[in-house]
Amino acid sequence: MIIGVPKEIKNNENRVALTPAGVAEFKKNGHTVYIQSTAGEGSGFTDDSYIEAGASILPDIKSVYGIAEMIMKVKEPIESEYELVKPGQLLFTYFHFASSEPLTHAMIARKGICLAYETVEKTDRSLPLLIPMSEVAGRMAVQEGAKYLEKPLKGRGILLGGVPGVPPANVLVLGGGIVGTQAAKMASGLGAHVTIMDVSLPRLRALADIMPANVNTVMSNEFNIRRYIKHMDLIVGAVLIPGAKAPHLITRDMLKTMKAGTVLVDVAVDQGGCIETCKPTTHENPTFIIDEVVHYCVANMPGAVPYTSTLALTNATLPYALQLANKGWKRACQENPELRLGLNVVDGKVVYQGVSDAWGLTYTPIEEILN
Ligand SMILES: NC(=O)c1ccc[n+]([C@@H]2O[C@H](COP(=O)([O-])OP(=O)(O)OC[C@H]3O[C@@H](n4cnc5c(N)ncnc54)[C@H](O)[C@@H]3O)[C@@H](O)[C@H]2O)c1
Repeated sequence: MIIGVPKEIKNNENRVALTPAGVAEFKKNGHTVYIQSTAGEGSGFTDDSYIEAGASILPDIKSVYGIAEMIMKVKEPIESEYELVKPGQLLFTYFHFASSEPLTHAMIARKGICLAYETVEKTDRSLPLLIPMSEVAGRMAVQEGAKYLEKPLKGRGILLGGVPGVPPANVLVLGGGIVGTQAAKMASGLGAHVTIMDVSLPRLRALADIMPANVNTVMSNEFNIRRYIKHMDLIVGAVLIPGAKAPHLITRDMLKTMKAGTVLVDVAVDQGGCIETCKPTTHENPTFIIDEVVHYCVANMPGAVPYTSTLALTNATLPYALQLANKGWKRACQENPELRLGLNVVDGKVVYQGVSDAWGLTYTPIEEILN
């Protein structure tokens, strides 16, 4: 198969969909790979490193879309890319169709085969191509939180781990899923006193078993949240209710009960945020202050560490991409139900219920196309 990797053109996107190691794997399996010039630059991969691995470099995005049978990307195509998609061309990338009607209509009109990273799903209902980015964001939440706790950045001026003779900081993690677990691991590793709250008792049990002694688990409810936040230095928002907006666990009135200089990192901001006063910010201007409480609410946290994020993402996507290239998308999706669930728009038809529901479009069961 001919695989094409365009340079990401969405604002501030420095990740790339394939590393030189990935190119080498495709070559080993007999495929041809074209990379757009400088596509890997933002993640630290030069054109030469791709050439060494066996890829050819193309000068512009048009030639990549023009030649490829499968396009591998990170972010959804933006408007200027719509017309480059060819009928029958396979696109393997994040799409998030339910949040963009124009993108949905454009991909229907272009008759591409749109396989979305975010809906590839395992039988245990986990989302293997979203997990790596949650892992990055969870770990980063504590790194960023520790930074904004510094006085020059308007924080309390407390060191997360303390020092001998001085107690460490108190960290509260709301939600003990992928993001919350990684955040708790980082904060506890630095020596902070960590509390994780979740509504799921089985989840709290599992966390209590694996976390070190400086991590406590507490049931998440308004009473407990109100009680704990008064003593916290850093609070990480990491809740998710699948398919719904995040619940506001920390409300505006609660801010006044917190210590001045407390830092809130609301990772769940991409689902509306679990802190009422959070609104999305960018890496250029990541924080704002309300009632002397620092709010960090960057909606695409992994974008700041493209080297790590690219490797984490491609570790997860490559095995699926190889199946698609080796078998062709149809047979790969017939044989692997995880990949089949990734199909969202196929040959002008919407084959993912969530997308058809979002925009009132006709839903075609994927079985009708695959059988
Ligand atoms: N900002 C970013 O850059 C970025 C990056 C990756 C993920 N995210 C977001 O982070 C959020 C968390 O993702 P995840 O992968 O950890 O999800 P997850 O499903 O693994 O975990 C969510 C957890 O929240 C818990 N929860 C639900 N309601 C709760 C409540 N009222 N109180 C406490 N806990 C509650 C669930 O039981 C679950 O354990 C999502 O909104 C995701 O989109 C943001």
